[in-house]
Amino acid sequence: MLSTRSLFQQIYADDRAYQLFCSVAAGGEDQGGWENERITELTADPVLAPKVARHGADERKHGRIFTQLLRKRGLEKVEVPPETDYCMLLERQGIGLSHDRLTSGAPLSDREIITYLAHSRVTEQRASEQMRQLAKAYAGNPDLDRAMRMISADEDDHLAYCHEELLRLAARGHGPYIRHTLESIARGEIRTHRDVGLAVMTALGRILGWPRHQRLLLTAGVYGLYLYDRLWGWRRMVTLRMPAKRNALG
Ligand SMILES: [Fe+2]
Ligand SMILES: [Fe+2]
Repeated sequence: MLSTRSLFQQIYADDRAYQLFCSVAAGGEDQGGWENERITELTADPVLAPKVARHGADERKHGRIFTQLLRKRGLEKVEVPPETDYCMLLERQGIGLSHDRLTSGAPLSDREIITYLAHSRVTEQRASEQMRQLAKAYAGNPDLDRAMRMISADEDDHLAYCHEELLRLAARGHGPYIRHTLESIARGEIRTHRDVGLAVMTALGRILGWPRHQRLLLTAGVYGLYLYDRLWGWRRMVTLRMPAKRNALG
């Protein structure tokens, strides 16, 4: 049977699969960087703004790391299929702050800040879990080991920061709105994660020439995770707990 580790080894071993994988990752990181840069501009809170800026700078750094990994291999970023664009698909469902809102000049309201933080709380949970998986799968890999561990540690910090900031706002009486926002974002994210997972698997399967039984197995895996998330796993995305590491982006 195909293990996660052997799946990621196959991707690493094939130029075109590796190119797609790093391009999808770099695109998502850059988009996250851009969103945080815009939110920094629109955040009036002098305590929060530098943390959002740091968040954005980290995501830009991650984008550069994935781009450099490609260059090291003599490859360039490629355009990714739109159905693998996680950030764009989330936005299209009205999850998080829209492009139009982010390019406008008006400062964000408390509720919009909550939308930003709740969106980050949910997507950073995913990022943190995925990076842990990648760090594990590529442990000992000469190109990827250090980079994956570094990004993984950053994503853990981003998640800790979201918990802490949302708890701070909850203490100021925003608890019910935060809860409602987290739940609706988690529902949409879980669906989007499934759709992007299927799209990425389809594209990789084509490049790597996976036989039908392997494609079916991976499709079943994506649906299995989706069902788990829908029925039970969503809870881990909407709870708030004060992190052990305080002021992670301070
Ligand atoms: Fe990142
Ligand atoms: Fe992040």
